[in-house]
Amino acid sequence: MMEDMKQKLLIILMVYALFQLKTSEGIEHRMVYVNGINMHVAEEGQGPVVLLIHGFPELWYTWRHQIVSLAAKGFRAVAPDLRGYGDTKPSTAVNNSTYFHIVGDLIALIDNLGVEKVFVVGHDWGAVIAWYLCLFRPDKVKALVNLSVVFQPRNPSRKPIETLRAIYGNDYYIIRFQEPGKMEAEFAQCSTANVLKKLLTYHNPGPFIIPRNTSFSSDGPYHLPSWLSEEDVNYYARKYNQTGFTGALNYYRALDLNWELTAAWTGKKVEIPVKFIVGDLDLTYNSPGTKEFIHGDGFKSYVPFLEEVVVMKGVGHFIHEERADETSAHIYNFIEKF
Ligand SMILES: *[C@@H]1O[C@H](CO)[C@@H](O)[C@H](O)[C@H]1NC(C)=O
Ligand SMILES: *[C@@H]1O[C@H](CO)[C@@H](O)[C@H](O)[C@H]1NC(C)=O
Ligand SMILES: *[C@@H]1O[C@H](CO)[C@@H](O)[C@H](O)[C@H]1NC(C)=O
Ligand SMILES: *[C@@H]1O[C@H](CO)[C@@H](O)[C@H](O)[C@H]1NC(C)=O
Ligand SMILES: *[C@@H]1O[C@H](CO)[C@@H](O)[C@H](O)[C@H]1NC(C)=O
Repeated sequence: MMEDMKQKLLIILMVYALFQLKTSEGIEHRMVYVNGINMHVAEEGQGPVVLLIHGFPELWYTWRHQIVSLAAKGFRAVAPDLRGYGDTKPSTAVNNSTYFHIVGDLIALIDNLGVEKVFVVGHDWGAVIAWYLCLFRPDKVKALVNLSVVFQPRNPSRKPIETLRAIYGNDYYIIRFQEPGKMEAEFAQCSTANVLKKLLTYHNPGPFIIPRNTSFSSDGPYHLPSWLSEEDVNYYARKYNQTGFTGALNYYRALDLNWELTAAWTGKKVEIPVKFIVGDLDLTYNSPGTKEFIHGDGFKSYVPFLEEVVVMKGVGHFIHEERADETSAHIYNFIEKF
């Protein structure tokens, strides 16, 4: 009898705890069938849709602060795990990881949300995808906010991988990511949490180099900054443990294929209102020619409706986590105008 009561009490407590979790979090999760895959989507809020597109090595989770903040300001924030990442399994092959596949997923997602147009916010790979989303389907985008990765016009005479190799050498991370299975095997020799700690805490303006013949995480232990907790790292680690890194790395392996497939868009401009935000310690901001491109005439000539460029001082690559409130405010101040 006593046991029975105890059990009932326990169940009531558990239901209460779950309810609390749901109401305090407010972020809802669902699976959406898009473009031949089951996509995991996190969302919160009601109002105009803001589509938040993550990069590497991230997940929907990287937008956790912006989701809550935008929802509180009257927007419907929607953050998917891109194909091959997190709960959007399984990993797809290199030839199924092109801009066309990924943008195809997002167009189907926008349709599923039942809206005509969305605001788009991208970071890292998500910024690259955002650019192609705007290029392929400007009719679907109201305005774009890009974090960190600046526009790279397609150069018809230079394939991306050989170009990167010539500039940065063989140990540059994108070059190291190319050979199928190799980086996965190196990551597997370190703990997934350490791999993610190293990648997510990289705060150096120089290019990201992965020397050969040394363990990937041999320069650890890594000290977590105030904006990234052990709990955050564990969320990423759990998901990368389950899904693996192959799907994510395949995006880098598809760079040359993308370059071939996008020949018809050479010189095409992004004709969408844009705001660009970057940290001055971001490795992408410090790559050769980038500052000149952003602050000179180059950027504006390819993105004619570029309205604002924000350079945050003392901030690295994961700007929306490192300066969560400030970044949310920048996004809000831009999209509320439309
Ligand atoms: C590529 O995607 C198509 C559907 O878009 C699927 O039928 C096919 O199995 C995929 N191939 C690989 C190798 O992932
Ligand atoms: C796509 O990649 C898969 C796996 O690597 C391969 O089996 C398939 O033949 C490729 N398909 C095409 C059309 O290249
Ligand atoms: C956003 O990033 C993409 C990817 O590099 C770029 O093509 C696009 O022009 C960017 N927009 C801005 C304003 O940087
Ligand atoms: C790295 O390892 C390879 C294969 O074991 C070896 O041939 C090469 O000399 C090593 N390079 C360095 C710098 O240790
Ligand atoms: C990831 O997997 C490894 C090995 O299976 C395990 O030791 C580790 O605890 C896992 N990490 C997380 C966060 O689940």
